[in-house]
Amino acid sequence: MKKSGNKMWGGRFLEDNDALVQEFNASIDVDKVMALQDIQGSIAHATMLAEQDILSDEEAEQIIDGLNAIRSDIEADVFEWKVELEDVHMNIERALTERVGAVGGKLHTARSRNDQVATDFRLWLREKTYDLVDLLEETRTVFVDLAEQNLDAIMPGYTHLQVAQPILFSHHMLAYFEMFTRDQQRLEDSLKRLNISPLGAGALAGTGFAIDREKTAELLEFSQPARNSLDAVSDRDFALEFLSAASIVMMHLSRLSEELILWSSQEFGFVTLPDSHTTGSSIMPQKKNPDVSELIRGKTGRVYGSLVGLLTVMKGLPLTYNKDMQEDKEGVIDAVETLSICLSLTNSMLPKMNLNKSRMHYAAGRAYSNATDLADYLAKKGLPFREAHESVGQLVALGIKQEKDLQDLELKTMQEVSSLIEDDVFEVLKLEAVVNARTSYGGTGTEQVRRQIAAASKQLNG
Ligand code: ARG
Repeated sequence: MKKSGNKMWGGRFLEDNDALVQEFNASIDVDKVMALQDIQGSIAHATMLAEQDILSDEEAEQIIDGLNAIRSDIEADVFEWKVELEDVHMNIERALTERVGAVGGKLHTARSRNDQVATDFRLWLREKTYDLVDLLEETRTVFVDLAEQNLDAIMPGYTHLQVAQPILFSHHMLAYFEMFTRDQQRLEDSLKRLNISPLGAGALAGTGFAIDREKTAELLEFSQPARNSLDAVSDRDFALEFLSAASIVMMHLSRLSEELILWSSQEFGFVTLPDSHTTGSSIMPQKKNPDVSELIRGKTGRVYGSLVGLLTVMKGLPLTYNKDMQEDKEGVIDAVETLSICLSLTNSMLPKMNLNKSRMHYAAGRAYSNATDLADYLAKKGLPFREAHESVGQLVALGIKQEKDLQDLELKTMQEVSSLIEDDVFEVLKLEAVVNARTSYGGTGTEQVRRQIAAASKQLNG
């Protein structure tokens, strides 16, 4: 018995798909987010087909009018998506034929869903990448503003999460500026390889119709048509590159989040996060939890998951298109949404954060954070640095015993360890002096940081 013929590829089939197979095979719930890109690609294709006399001008016009009407329906949210039509491409094509008649069936001339889906995905991801680049640029501005507005704040710098040397809070903010600058560059760079047109590659081997791939590439603002049709339909590197760049952004955001969580704890007390971006506890009335930062830290995992997921989908696939590749979109869509909300929240939260500068200053001056400077002081007086290190180590041990910081030890006591120490040492041990002694390029000295702020602002404005 001949089946109902609902499918767009039903000719050779004698039996309808099993209902569960139909559901399993369908991607419409995911790929309908690319509907407008699908229409954009189809309009470019129809335009080119008419210019090449593969369609008459009248036919192309009917098709394009029909596609525009469908676009309006989709935008007005009155378009009816059908799971039995499998994916966004066939839903739109069927709606077109219902609207304009048999001529709608001519749109798929010299095209396959394989080049179509690759085109839609690239168009969609290009738009999303632009949006994320804008968000990252905003994030970078937020960090430069924080650096500029708080040049007076000294905080402890850490290695191994142990107090190491005092640094400017601004210097710490600029470290994030650098990370997010590279992140933005990575996304911008990925656009070079993303912005290539697969359209016209057909199912895999190209087509015998006299199409103009340069033309469709140009209409869709791609930089050029993909050179190899097999590669064009089977390559998903662009999505993997996006996911790896996205994972690195999330990794950076997770480190920032972790620091904000630590800094806003009772124990650190360096910052107070705004009420607008924190939550309370249902049982402990005093609590103010850094949920936004914790969730950003947590959501990093799902973006990594999407990267590893797609790498695994693509691993070992023979050329060219395989249905496995339908699994390529969900993780990318999720990563785009995740990045977008995490960056937006970071951008709105950070400017509202309060700094507890006296608390930072106090913490920066504890735990012998100026020990290196005392060693440098001795080294500058001619003592080999290794010996200076040893002497200061002894003074630190003494300080621990007497429960005193280095600057609070008596000069006499210090001189017992090294006769090179004179009373100019107390100037050297002051936090501001310790910070400002770091005058090397890229260091934490105020002058260096000022210069980095100026360079960063210039980068952002240029
Ligand atoms: N929905 C499919 C996907 O996302 C479109 C391409 C289908 N191609 C095919 N030969 N069945 O991958």
